[in-house]
Amino acid sequence: MSLNCDRFLDDLHRLRSFGASGQGKGVVRPAYSAVDIAARRWLAGRMEEAGLTVHLDPIGNCFGLAGEKSLLIGSHSDSQPEGGWLDGALGVVAGLEIARAAKEAGGPPISVVNFQDEEGRFGILTGSDVWTGNVSLAEADQLTDTGGVVLSTARARMSGRAKDFLPYDMFTGFIEMHIEQGPGMDVSGDQVGVVSDIVGIRELRIVINGRQNHAGTTPMALRQDAFQALCDFNQRINQRFAEVATSTTVWTLGHAELSPNASSVVPGTVRFALQWRDGDPALLLALEEIMRAVAAEIAQERGVTVELGTVGGIEPAAMDPHLKAALRQAAEDQAPGKWRDLPSGALHDAANMARVMPTAMLFVPSIGGISHAFDEDTKEEDLVKGLEVLHQAALSL
Ligand code: GLV
Ligand code: MN
Ligand code: MN
Repeated sequence: MSLNCDRFLDDLHRLRSFGASGQGKGVVRPAYSAVDIAARRWLAGRMEEAGLTVHLDPIGNCFGLAGEKSLLIGSHSDSQPEGGWLDGALGVVAGLEIARAAKEAGGPPISVVNFQDEEGRFGILTGSDVWTGNVSLAEADQLTDTGGVVLSTARARMSGRAKDFLPYDMFTGFIEMHIEQGPGMDVSGDQVGVVSDIVGIRELRIVINGRQNHAGTTPMALRQDAFQALCDFNQRINQRFAEVATSTTVWTLGHAELSPNASSVVPGTVRFALQWRDGDPALLLALEEIMRAVAAEIAQERGVTVELGTVGGIEPAAMDPHLKAALRQAAEDQAPGKWRDLPSGALHDAANMARVMPTAMLFVPSIGGISHAFDEDTKEEDLVKGLEVLHQAALSL
């Protein structure tokens, strides 16, 4: 049998039912949660039904293997705390459909992968970070989520079925299909994007400790207010990063927690996360130095302590020329005049995979450029077009 686009869309909608939430087509499926594990079990069952051999590795990456040497296609099925239905899910279900169609057609061997914790509940791209050696399993096991849960505890729920990490040389290469998650193709009207390279990232958790005290009796001049220190820190980061940033540099303070978080208490502690992204490793480092200098200034000027956590990161990654050429040819055949090359500002497991095997990525548009939000969406005709391009490219390889 050949590619079955209805079966692909049905599977994608079925996957959405695990953790379906919010308005529109949103999902809540954080890595290692009960609903994430249920979705992964269902996907593993679909892999088995397709005649693929299911393999779970120690960190929770789940493979559907087609043989001893195959092309690997996939992405991740965990979501952000408030996620869309396609981020990651699209690439896994596309890999499943292409591997299944190839199996039915008697070859070539194509395997599928569903990476664990791509959305960084614990690390940055935890599953592929560990498989590709960016972070050791022992280091990963120490990571905590923002609620204090330790990764070793979270993954224990799956570890009974896990086998070893797979050798990279089982695979001839890796291709990930994904939504763009930005406005580029929605604005240009293109249906398919061939990724040139993926940005690099640095990320860390920071704790500012001031002095918790009474909001009515503590004179302004005597306060060591952790929240005010955070505001000052943020303002200086915005100013100083902007002085060296290029038009594609981005930074985000996306998580912050005040303690005790009560209206009549001068906040004693604030915990937050800061990340920055750029395609130039030297600039990533320069921004880290600025961040460290700002932290030292804030500590000194405001009489607080600023504890910097370990700076984690992934280097910028260029996509493989040979795989890219196959995607470009397929895009030209299937979507003539409606495709383009473009860089990825979002992170993907492909960034890690590029260090260990030839790797490429294919994008389809995001309506309104919205993602990491419940209302993320893509036209079904664009999802199918992307699948067809990926299928042609995979067969040509
Ligand atoms: C991955 O989801 C990212 O943060 O880019
Ligand atoms: Mn993703
Ligand atoms: Mn994501």
